[in-house]
Amino acid sequence: MDIPRIINITESAHRIHNPFTPDKFATLGDALRLEPGARVLDLGSGSGEMLCTWARDHGIVGTGIDKSRLFTEQAKQRAEALGVANQVEFIHNDAAVYVADEKADVAACVGATWIGGGVAGTIELLAKSLRTGGIILIGEPYWRQLPPMPRLKPVARPPVTRSR
Ligand SMILES: C[S@@+](CC[C@H](N)C(=O)[O-])C[C@H]1O[C@@H](n2cnc3c(N)ncnc32)[C@H](O)[C@@H]1O
Repeated sequence: MDIPRIINITESAHRIHNPFTPDKFATLGDALRLEPGARVLDLGSGSGEMLCTWARDHGIVGTGIDKSRLFTEQAKQRAEALGVANQVEFIHNDAAVYVADEKADVAACVGATWIGGGVAGTIELLAKSLRTGGIILIGEPYWRQLPPMPRLKPVARPPVTRSR
């Protein structure tokens, strides 16, 4: 089980697999008023930057689930590098079927709502792992402007001849 190899290759050097910055993750962590010991679940956790930096900066504990074997491994290495490997765990799995045994204070999915079949399905999925009164965090990327597409020339094909 893995994501398409082309994504593992093109994003292998990314710490954040989204049009997002470290500052924005920090602002988001502040805005959530995360308390030390708060439990955060992250479906589609990528290379673990959100959970690892929140563990370092806010003392949260957390679990990240990702279908990419490579990103999951990178997330574990990032946790070691930031000295938070005892606070966060990263599991290589399909998050679409993941329900946490221990309910989370914050259940997140940032930039991967196809996991639940869209925003509504992802809310339902996250809610299964959320404690009563907890917070669901969803990041949904969108184009502010469609990127220009090069005009493609039609390919000239030889005429098809049929023989009996
Ligand atoms: C756009 S990236 C976002 C990663 C991370 N949230 C971040 O902001 O860096 C989407 C992530 O979802 C993961 N993914 C895709 N399908 C998945 C699935 N069914 N279960 C778990 N992870 C999945 C990919 O491997 C990738 O890491």
